[in-house]
Amino acid sequence: MSVILLLGSGGREHAFARALVMSVQCEQLFIAPGNAGTAMLGTNVDVSPNDFESIKAFVLENKVDLILVGPEDPLVNGVVDFFEADSLIKHIPVIGPSKMGAQLEGSKEFSKNFMKRHGVPTAAYASFTLAKLEEGYRFLETLRPPYVLKADGLAGGKGVLILDNLQEAKDELKAMLGDAKFGKAGEKVVIEEFLDGIEVSMFVLTDGKNYKILPEAKDYKRIGDGDKGLNTGGMGAVSPVPFVDESFVHKVEEQIIKPTIRGLAEEKINYIGFIFIGLMNVGGEPKVIEYNCRMGDPETEAVVPRIQNDFLALMQATASQQLDKIDFKIDPRTAATVVMVSGGYPGTFEKGYTIKNLDQVNDTIVFHAGTKMNGNDVVTNGGRVLAITSLGNSIEDAIQKSYAAAHHINYDYAYYRKDIGQDLISLVK
Ligand code: AMP
Ligand code: GLY
Repeated sequence: MSVILLLGSGGREHAFARALVMSVQCEQLFIAPGNAGTAMLGTNVDVSPNDFESIKAFVLENKVDLILVGPEDPLVNGVVDFFEADSLIKHIPVIGPSKMGAQLEGSKEFSKNFMKRHGVPTAAYASFTLAKLEEGYRFLETLRPPYVLKADGLAGGKGVLILDNLQEAKDELKAMLGDAKFGKAGEKVVIEEFLDGIEVSMFVLTDGKNYKILPEAKDYKRIGDGDKGLNTGGMGAVSPVPFVDESFVHKVEEQIIKPTIRGLAEEKINYIGFIFIGLMNVGGEPKVIEYNCRMGDPETEAVVPRIQNDFLALMQATASQQLDKIDFKIDPRTAATVVMVSGGYPGTFEKGYTIKNLDQVNDTIVFHAGTKMNGNDVVTNGGRVLAITSLGNSIEDAIQKSYAAAHHINYDYAYYRKDIGQDLISLVK
């Protein structure tokens, strides 16, 4: 029996929590800090995922056997290295990469250079600092529009600009490097070739030696229907994705996953955990847009419900480097996730609205993201509030169930996209 600590507080963590508590091996689950949904499955702990000293004290006091890290920032901040460096806690496995491994997400320049070193297909690029601004302008002049500019560091998904016009691209480059448009994250900027195609998120779980390819998902990043408007953390997800057939997966495995895992080993980068590969399907050829050092949100809410294995056993096999012994079982049905947000998101929004009818939906899983308890009420507590997942025998079927639930649940100023999965339905036809 195991005592588990899960770090994070979003829909992804609620999906992990639900999968973990289904295991007969799960004795107790703590979630730090969690949300109103995770509180129904385990014990929320008022500790920040970035407060490593407090996590250490908690883990020792509560005899935690395994830690699963949801979000990227504790990984980029070195939570794994913190545990390894301390003799009192170094025996406790933490599922997540080392600080160096997390640089695959933490630094665009690091990840692009890593891809180059290991021959992983990606967009052509170069990176620039303020001292090289003029060279940046010259590089932009060699590219065809649209122009892609990326702040090097973590910018909460907001550090990427795609511009149609050369002068605009030069102005934005100057704003990022000269005027700190994205703060420290933008002190270095990666300029890259635009990849034209359909995007897909692929996920790999690795124990450092072996790996498993998890179900893929399509994410819907923009706030508005038809992919219009501002970027968000993600407004919906569908898994599987129709064009990700055996031949495409084979290409991804040979050209991207194997060189990535081999590259990490060759460079002695300790990496035990999830690798999220953001891909563009460019005319049937996969090219990497980005790596993330964790699972996606809301993709996890569509992917994890399709994994039929004991999820805790999967995490334990990862920690003990025995993933090769696991026989992976995936539900063939389609999972569709619709994210309900607070009106105003990704800009400013109010919190604290009571969420009604949460327990009056059937045949669907309601994952909490930005929620908390207020007395006996569940209230909104973030931009992304709920992630509603349904399984169905077709995309239409799964989507229809999630929308029926989204329609029924309500709180003031609730908003969700109405077109999740529509693009994939037309791909199938
Ligand atoms: P990233 O933060 O790197 O995921 O970029 C955010 C979004 O910008 C991606 O999800 C893509 O939709 C888009 N994007 C990033 N890089 C490129 C590229 N080279 N070509 C086309 N679209 C891109
Ligand atoms: N849904 C995209 C992400 O988790 O980064």
